Amino acid sequence: MVKKTSTALSHPNIAFIKYWGNRDAVQRIPSNGSISMNLEQLWTKTTVSTDAWLQKDQLRINGKMAHALAAERVSLFLEKIRNMVHSDAFFSVESTNNFPISAGIASSASAFSALAAAVLDLLGISVSEQQLSAFARLGSGSACRSIPTGFCEWKPGHNHSDSYAYSIASPDQWPLWDCIAVVADNPKKISSSHGHALAGTSPFQQARVEDAPRRLEICRNAIANQDFLQLAEIIESDSDMMHAVMMTSNPPIKYWLPASLEIMQLVRHWRESGTEAAYTLDAGPNIHVICTSSSRGVIEEKLRYHPNIKQVLSASVGSGTSILPLE
Ligand code: DP6
Repeated sequence: MVKKTSTALSHPNIAFIKYWGNRDAVQRIPSNGSISMNLEQLWTKTTVSTDAWLQKDQLRINGKMAHALAAERVSLFLEKIRNMVHSDAFFSVESTNNFPISAGIASSASAFSALAAAVLDLLGISVSEQQLSAFARLGSGSACRSIPTGFCEWKPGHNHSDSYAYSIASPDQWPLWDCIAVVADNPKKISSSHGHALAGTSPFQQARVEDAPRRLEICRNAIANQDFLQLAEIIESDSDMMHAVMMTSNPPIKYWLPASLEIMQLVRHWRESGTEAAYTLDAGPNIHVICTSSSRGVIEEKLRYHPNIKQVLSASVGSGTSILPLE
């Protein structure tokens, strides 16, 4: 081991075509492929250090000791890394976010991508971007899409090494924005991991998974051709399909709040009136309004003055995970 500390910076991502359900829950081999956009202005910065006196892994999030469940999840991930690289070191992990965590803004994506990059860098293990993406996936599936830059596709694969994400377009391919309408900023009650495990209990999941190649193809083409209408229709449909699976799982999961539905309807109305905007929701009630840079100003304005929206966070297409120089 060369360094004693390493810091990585990573961004969350918003899925255009969603990951929901695993074929292998332990390795997080997903039931279907997915496509996302990294979110530049939102970030997680994670510093990992190690010392011979550490008897177990330690986790602090935003300056506070993390609660037991989060610490356990991180430790489980670090254990997988230790086993893979034959190390017996324990780690102290300090993670800071500039956005609300566990509220459907993919904080686990930026958290585990930053953690994977920082730990491997600390251990002096150099891996390809593909391998790093696969490593991050072991912590949180969507984290594999925060490793490469811009718009990323996660190819489901069949085993650990062939299930990873790669960039399908750089951030400057299409200057889209995600204006996130935060209608609730408290942590969600049902985690994505729990939700993935229930996906197969919905009679709609099989149809959703079988139709995924079609949606992925449309989404890829929309990004390549900067075709906003095509993108809007496919991402809204994909989001609705995932939430239909969630709502019909056993037990059902209902992430939408009345305000979520209200904003979704408004977004469709705005688009019909000529504003380039489309909605998508992850595992939470907050609405991601995807828009072009020319419609961003008017969208932000409309969202900011809406009485049921607590906060609006805006982000352009983001870069991938990076290691920060030592301070
Ligand atoms: C709805 O990656 O958070 O955001 O692998 O259990 O950590 P775990 O799940 P996670 O699931 C993300 C689900 C989603 C859709 C998506 O990002 O593709």
